[in-house]
Amino acid sequence: MTTLVTNISQLVNVRETPQLLRGKELNDLPVIEEAFLLIEDGFIAGFGKMDAIDPASLKISHQVDAAGQFVLPCWCDSHTHLVFPSSREDEFRDKINGLSYAAIAEKGGGILNSAKKLLASSEDSLFNSAWKRLEEVSKLGTGAIEIKSGYGLSTEGELKMLRVIKKLKERSNLPIKATFLGAHAYPPAFKDDHEGYINEIINEMIPRIAAEQLADFIDVFCEKGFFSPEETEKICRAGLQWGLRPKIHANQLHLSGGTQVGVKLKALSVDHLETMDEAAIQALAGSGTIGTLLPTAAFFLRMPMQPARALIDAGCAIAIASDFNPGSSPSGNMNLVVTMSCIQMKMLPEEAINAATINGACAMDLSAVTGSITVGKMANLIFTKPIPSIAYLPYAFGSNLIDKVMISGGWI
Ligand code: NIG
Ligand code: FE
Repeated sequence: MTTLVTNISQLVNVRETPQLLRGKELNDLPVIEEAFLLIEDGFIAGFGKMDAIDPASLKISHQVDAAGQFVLPCWCDSHTHLVFPSSREDEFRDKINGLSYAAIAEKGGGILNSAKKLLASSEDSLFNSAWKRLEEVSKLGTGAIEIKSGYGLSTEGELKMLRVIKKLKERSNLPIKATFLGAHAYPPAFKDDHEGYINEIINEMIPRIAAEQLADFIDVFCEKGFFSPEETEKICRAGLQWGLRPKIHANQLHLSGGTQVGVKLKALSVDHLETMDEAAIQALAGSGTIGTLLPTAAFFLRMPMQPARALIDAGCAIAIASDFNPGSSPSGNMNLVVTMSCIQMKMLPEEAINAATINGACAMDLSAVTGSITVGKMANLIFTKPIPSIAYLPYAFGSNLIDKVMISGGWI
C-alpha cells in the first residue's frame, strides 16, 4: 500500500544518515518546507519538495492533504515504568504535606508499595492496565517506548513483569524495548541482607531472563539507600555477560557516582541526572553514553531541574524521556516533557525535539528503525494541527496540538 502525503507545511527532522547528536549538534533540526512524504507498506519511502513530484505519475492507494500541518517523527520515550499495578495518589497527599520521596520510601511507601500490589496482581490485569496506558501515550504522539520491570523484586515477580512487557511487544505496532530493573529496591525479606538479594539477581533472575529472552537492557537504581556504585557495577557486569547493556538510574537524589559507573561500563544511557557536579558532567561529556533527562520527574518531586544547558555546552549527548511511573512521574505525555525541557531546563525547541526523537531512539538502540524522517524507517509520525512554527509546539504548552498520529503507516 502506498500513501502520499502532500502540501506538508514543514516536514521536521529530515535526515539521510541519522546518528546520535551531541552538544551543539542538538540545535540543528533539519526541515523541508512545502514537502511531500511517500509511505510504502508502513515505511518511509521518499520525501522532498512538493514541486519536485507529480502525484499523477505515481501509483498511490491513498493521498493525504496536510496543508498547514507539520509532520514530525513520533516521540521516542526511552525511559518508562509503564507496567505497574495501580496509581499512588495517596503518596501525592503525603508529598503535598511535605514528605520527600526518600521519606515516603523509608516508611514503606514508594517502590515497595507498588511491589506489594504487584505481587497480588495477575499478569492479565497488569497487561490490561499497561495496554490502556500504551494507547493513551501513543495518541499523545509516542511511537517507540522503553519499559522497565522493577516492581517485582523477586524472581517470579520480575519474570511476571517482563512477560507482560513481552506480550505488549507482541500485540503492539510500536517498537518496544524491555529493561530488567530487579535492582530497583531491596524487598522487605532482604532488608538486612543486600548481598543475598544481589546474589538472587545475578544467579537466579538474570540467567532466567536471558534464557527466555525477556529483556534488552539492564538497569540499576544507583542511589544512596538503594544500590551503591560498586553494587551497580557488579549487577551490570553480570547483565553484560548475558548481553544486557546497562541503562542506569543515576544521580537522581544524590551525587551517587552512578554517572561515572555508567560511563565506565559503556552504558547506553545514564538517566535522571538531577544532581550533577562538574566531575559527573565532564565524565559524561567524554563518553559515548547518553544522558537521559527526565524533567517531569524533577517537576513532580519538586527537585532542582537537570542541568541541561551545562550538559549540552559540555558536549554531552542528551535525550529526554517521561519516566512514566506511579511514584515520581505519573504522566507519559512527551509533549509536556518537551515543553518542560524548554521552559525549565532552558533547552531550545530544536534541541528538545531532537532529544525526544532521534536521541531518544538512540537511547533505545532503535535509531535504525525510528526517530527521524529517513527512507527505510517506520512511518511513525505526528501530524500537528496547523501551527505557525515548530517553536509553537513547546510554547503553547496547554493545548493539544496533535491532529493525528500514524504508526506503521496506519492512523491510530
Ligand atoms: O525513575 N527512582 C527510581 N525509580 C522511579 C520511581 C519509581 C517509583 O517511585 O515507583 C523513577 O523515578
Ligand atoms: Fe525511572
